[in-house]
This record gives sequence, structure tokens and C-alpha cells, in this order.
Amino acid sequence: MSDKKTIVVFGATGAQGGGLVKAILEDSDGGFFPRAVTRNGNSDKAMALKDLGAQLVEADLDDYDSLTKALEGAYGAYCVTNFWEHFSAEKEMQQAESLAKACKATGVKHVVWSTLEDTREFVPLDDNRMPTLQGKWKVPHFDGKGASDHFFADNGVPTTYILTSFYWDNFVHFGSGPQKGADGKYAITFPLDDKPMSGIAAEDIGRCAYGIFKGGEQWIGKRVGIAGEHISAGDMAAQMSKALGVDVAYNNVTPEVYRGFGFPGADDLGNMFQFYRDFADYFTGFRDISVAKSLNPKLQDFSQWLAANSSKIPLG
Ligand SMILES: NC(=O)c1ccc[n+]([C@@H]2O[C@H](COP(=O)([O-])OP(=O)(O)OC[C@H]3O[C@@H](n4cnc5c(N)ncnc54)[C@H](OP(=O)(O)O)[C@@H]3O)[C@@H](O)[C@H]2O)c1
Repeated sequence: MSDKKTIVVFGATGAQGGGLVKAILEDSDGGFFPRAVTRNGNSDKAMALKDLGAQLVEADLDDYDSLTKALEGAYGAYCVTNFWEHFSAEKEMQQAESLAKACKATGVKHVVWSTLEDTREFVPLDDNRMPTLQGKWKVPHFDGKGASDHFFADNGVPTTYILTSFYWDNFVHFGSGPQKGADGKYAITFPLDDKPMSGIAAEDIGRCAYGIFKGGEQWIGKRVGIAGEHISAGDMAAQMSKALGVDVAYNNVTPEVYRGFGFPGADDLGNMFQFYRDFADYFTGFRDISVAKSLNPKLQDFSQWLAANSSKIPLG
């Protein structure tokens, strides 16, 4: 371990960071070693990472001193924040700023910051095609990340900005899977019309990040969009029907209807899908599958992800 470069992985017990920890450990001759950050080193997920061979360190994005301690002596850091824990873009920005400052203070040589577009650059606040949320955002969980990019640049942190895509794992864990309608038929519901949506297997994000760390200096200062495939909801529904053995339709709704579903974050996600729909050419164009594949040769498309995961998709 001592001659290997340590990468501090924030969000290590989660989807993105977990994929990176595993990618580092799987490549035992790769020259890197993962230090997995968690707030609770005794959790089952943390213990599982330790069992795999990762070093565990406890730190909290809301506690700056814990960040500098976690980063001490590290070569690299994977920085990710979790909007869905608090639903506050402001808080996400505070956490990102702390991460950037802590990386600078500890002299980390390569940071990969998991970010997304600030959609207000595409849909200004006075553009009423979608409502402004919480007074100053269009898609809060995108905008807060995008608006945090400058913390890394302003602090002179050697950073690669990785722009992620919709996790197909949301069909398993995030309530996006097929639901039975009043007609007794299953459907997935999105406000996407027939536009392709950039998606990815969540674990492939960490694997792409690993490719960036391995590639090193050439990626510093770059913005890298990643996806496993750009695929319409109709095509996903058709593939799900075959894989699940039940008919799954695509229920296309308007963004207004989606925003009105009432679950926590429905307005944010309604705006997000509208952004995916209205800016599909930009969104899919920026996320170059061949680049993602060059970073991560195991990159899955939707059919490969589905073949491995269809048994986990709950039929609601
Ligand atoms: N779902 C999607 O389709 C999608 C697509 C693109 C981007 N995203 C973004 O992905 C982010 C979440 O990443 P994920 O899906 O990898 O997370 P996840 O699986 O939900 O896990 C959350 C991770 O964040 C860590 N965490 C949360 N608050 C923390 C804090 N205060 N201090 C330290 N660690 C903290 C947790 O660590 P412990 O609990 O162990 O401390 C855990 O490892 C969100 O911001 C979301 O916007 C999601």
C-alpha cells in the first residue's frame, strides 16, 4: 500500500464513490489505493468496503477539519455531494466549497469533482417554460453542483469536472420503476416525449472516474460528460417488457404533470427531465459514449445493465 497513490473517495458507501473504490481495488497493480470516507465507520456499507480492502476514514462534509484530516497525504480525491439528503442547493454549495478548500489546503494533486450543468445558463430564471424553484434555481440538484465548479478553479485545485447522467439504478432504488396503473398495466412515467435520455449504470461512474485518475495530468481542467447510452423512455420500456416478462408501457406526461406528482423533489425532477427533453441535443452531445468507454472499458449500455439487474427492479 505504501508505494501506492492514495485516492480519498467521498461518498464511498454510495453509488458513485462505491464504484470507484471497487474499481481501484479490482486493479491491484494499478498503483492506487482507496481511502473510503464515511460518517459512520461502523455501518454495514462501510464495513463491507473495509472487508474488500479499503482504508476507512470518518469525515463529514459539514465539518471542514474532518475533511483536511481525511485528505492528509493523499494524491487524489473524488468529491461528490448528496443533494437528496437535504434537498438544499445552498448546502450542497457550502459542502463543495469546503471540499475545494480542503483539497487546496492539503495539496491534493488530482481532484475529480462530480458535477452537473447549472441549468440556469440554458434556462434563465425569467424563462417561464419551467418554474423557478426555491427562489433561485431551475433544477436545484443540478444548479448547485454547476454553480460550485468555480470553487475548485478559484482555489487553484487541479480538477477534472465529471458530468454524470441519469442512473438506470433509479429503476431499482429511486422509485422510477414500472408502476401499475388504474388499467392494471405497468408503465414507466417520464416527461421526455421520444427524446433520448443520457443514462448510465451508477457503478460505471466510479469506473470512469478511475480512468480519469489513471490518465492523470491530461484530464486536469477538463470537463468530461459521461453516459453508457442515450436511449428514449419508449425504448427502455420495450426492453424492460422483454426482460421482466410483463408488458411495460411508456407513459409520457407533460413536465407540469410530473412536477405535480407531489413526492419530495417532484418539482426538481420535473424540471430536470424537461431539461433533458428540451436540450436533448446538447445533453447527449456533451456526453460522449466513446470517451466514457475509453475511460472505462467495462461501460454498460442499457441492455447490458438490464440483463444484470432486471431481477432487482420492483414491480410497484
Ligand atoms: N440518481 C441519479 O440518477 C443521479 C444522477 C446524477 C447525479 N446524481 C447525484 O448523485 C449524488 C449522490 O451520489 P450517490 O448516488 O453516489 O450517493 P448515495 O448512493 O445516495 O450515497 C450517499 C453518499 O453520500 C455520503 N454523504 C452524504 N452526506 C454526507 C456528509 N455530510 N458527509 C460525508 N458523506 C456524506 C454518504 O456517506 P455515509 O452515509 O456513509 O456517511 C454516502 O456515501 C446526488 O447529489 C445526486 O444529485 C444522481
